Amino acid sequence: MSKTKIEQRYIDEHPESLSRYNISKHLFPNGVTHDARRLSPFPLYVTQAKGSHKWDVEGNKIIDYKTGHGSMILGHSHPDIVKSVHDAMNLGTQMGSSTDMEIKWGQLVRELVPCAEKVRFQSSGTEAVMMAMRLARAFTGRTKIIKFDDHFHGWSDYAMAGGSGLGGIPQETLDTMIVLPPNNIDLVEKTIKENDIAAVMIEPTGSHMGLHPIPPSFLHQLRDLTDKTGVVFHMDEVVTGFRISKGGASKKFDVIPDITTLAKILGGGMPGGAVAGKSELINLIEFQNDADFNQNERVSHPGTFNANPVSAAAGAKALELVRDTNVNDKADQAAGKLKKEMNELLGKMEIPGKVTGHGSLLFVRLGVDFEVEDDGASFELTDSQWNIINHSERNSQLHLALLNEGVDPMSNGTRLIVGQEHSDQDIKDTVLAYEKSLTEIRDAGLI
Ligand SMILES: Cc1ncc(COP(=O)(O)O)c(C=O)c1O
Repeated sequence: MSKTKIEQRYIDEHPESLSRYNISKHLFPNGVTHDARRLSPFPLYVTQAKGSHKWDVEGNKIIDYKTGHGSMILGHSHPDIVKSVHDAMNLGTQMGSSTDMEIKWGQLVRELVPCAEKVRFQSSGTEAVMMAMRLARAFTGRTKIIKFDDHFHGWSDYAMAGGSGLGGIPQETLDTMIVLPPNNIDLVEKTIKENDIAAVMIEPTGSHMGLHPIPPSFLHQLRDLTDKTGVVFHMDEVVTGFRISKGGASKKFDVIPDITTLAKILGGGMPGGAVAGKSELINLIEFQNDADFNQNERVSHPGTFNANPVSAAAGAKALELVRDTNVNDKADQAAGKLKKEMNELLGKMEIPGKVTGHGSLLFVRLGVDFEVEDDGASFELTDSQWNIINHSERNSQLHLALLNEGVDPMSNGTRLIVGQEHSDQDIKDTVLAYEKSLTEIRDAGLI
């Protein structure tokens, strides 16, 4: 197939990335180590990152809006985190014993996260969600868990229900999950009445960080309903935790779940996950003086790298910075400015669309005009409008065009995760990069 102008420029300007891809494609499926890092014709390879920037193997400086899949709100290679990690490395990276650092990390989680009476660390968000589901099932003695359409909770067999890439997952496992459309509390109530529901699990800003936003009022409705019916309410704050506010979506929207799951910012750029919540739930991990309980009811939790000292040191320092400095306000302000200027750009270019989102999680919705509520994030669209927004050919060309202009967004140019280091100059350069890229997209007849 012939190359578009945008693709040809990407190929011409990234020969070093191409040569690495020619090795990687024989090593890794699709040549990558995470499904979302695939990119046609080949992914970009980077060497280093600092603040809001990273550098590709060609030496180009790139404004980064992937920000470590949302983990780097502090900016890349934050000097305090780098020092904490170096110090921890020198002291031993895995000592198979309890440490002061894990106490500090746990205390900070408890201090910042409203529902966190007790905490347990894992190494990823996927593991944290697996643990939360198991705790809810053990606590209620029930099996089924309600999740919502397209909400992402990691890649465990259960959490993948309703997603794609379901090969290898037993149908029996998927049958223990009930996937519902969000924002319909009557349907959730009916489902709870008719099934043995252990928990309701949700991404609190909507699926994929807020791609399909939900109004905070739905969280309140779920809180009331789960209270009334004795179902565990699980807000998965892997993305929103320590981002949407210091205390996550829970604090911002004033909803306290029974259990929450945390990762990304929690680890300060190192692998880390945690389940936190009501003591009576999390304490199901505790051994009791009762052999039968320990054998049949206790929730087991080993894990070699749980609370390893390097993640604990990076994570504790990150949470300290979240607690003591205005990280969240800075990221929100930068994102607010970017949102405003991007919306002005779309207006100026007469391109239908809007940039929306809560705080520092922005979504670029192209191709349709629509009204957004006062929160700047919530709106309603028809399926055909969504199809226009999700136009994959346009969006993938947009991503390549933006990379050519030195900007790396998430999700093919349609998602920007902003951190505290994004400066006014970065925002100006980003808007200019979108202007040039959207012009090319328009010239290619894609918008
Ligand atoms: C809401 C949510 N839950 C869970 C996960 C899984 O976390 P991890 O990638 O650390 O396994 C993610 C990852 O993006 C997520 O966004």
